[in-house]
Amino acid sequence: MLHELTVLSGFDKTGKREEYESIVIHAGETISIVGPTGSGKTAFITDIELLAQGDTFTKRKILINGQPPGSGIRNNPALKPIAMITQNTKCFADLTVEEFLKIHARARGIYSSKIIDETIALANNFTGEKIHRDHRVTILSGGQTRSLLIADAILIGAAPVILLDEIENAGIFKQEVMEIIQDTGKIIIFVTHDPVIALHTQKRIIMENGAVKAVLVQNELEVFAAQRLSDLDRKIGAIREELRADRVITRELMNLKFA
Ligand SMILES: Nc1ncnc2c1ncn2[C@@H]1O[C@H](COP(=O)(O)OP(=O)(O)OP(=O)(O)O)[C@@H](O)[C@H]1O
Ligand SMILES: [Mg+2]
Repeated sequence: MLHELTVLSGFDKTGKREEYESIVIHAGETISIVGPTGSGKTAFITDIELLAQGDTFTKRKILINGQPPGSGIRNNPALKPIAMITQNTKCFADLTVEEFLKIHARARGIYSSKIIDETIALANNFTGEKIHRDHRVTILSGGQTRSLLIADAILIGAAPVILLDEIENAGIFKQEVMEIIQDTGKIIIFVTHDPVIALHTQKRIIMENGAVKAVLVQNELEVFAAQRLSDLDRKIGAIREELRADRVITRELMNLKFA
């Protein structure tokens, strides 16, 4: 059981030590990583995904339950407690969606076909272009691929840590992902430029110049702001779908969506 993940500080881009000793992340926590382009957000979660031991250019170290992970966990993908999904994540195997999920489920000792149906259904909550069980995973669109992999990580994958790099630009319904992902008991880390996602997480890690600049805990006003922003975001999402479906803005639509 993974109940806590610790990041031990490394060095910023100029070689200066980061100004924290350790950051402890507990099972069930949601975290966002924010900061300007090039500030080291992807590098930070990549350290977690690699279970770095001072052997990446940031020199950070990752502990699992307070201990350095054994080499088995670091090198054997089947034992790895971490799933990372980025904008570029693709499935390379020439399999159908159903075969791909079945193989993954079997590897985890799950033989029920119900979980395959549930995973496809969950993925289809995250994307507007429906995924079919007979589709080949190699021809899925970027948004479909990420939707499928997130659903797979939640329902089939046992990974207690899920890292998501900028999923807001990935053609998926982030609101649905945010909702489902909140109470899985897993550690979920979002690298994001999106204020809706950043304000929804319990903690925010702020990056600057390759280093962690601050760790902030969500306050009460931010919970309220997150809700208001979500409402606004849903309206924008609804308009986006209308425009995609070649509709034009009418007075009725304005009243309906902008009210
Ligand atoms: N602590 C560090 N020491 C040295 N190089 C670093 C450090 N952190 C990040 N870098 C390097 O800086 C570059 C930008 O980092 P990274 O890709 O993590 O930025 P980012 O915040 O994810 O940017 P974006 O928002 O554009 O995706 C990369 O080449 C990365 O390897
Ligand atoms: Mg990045």
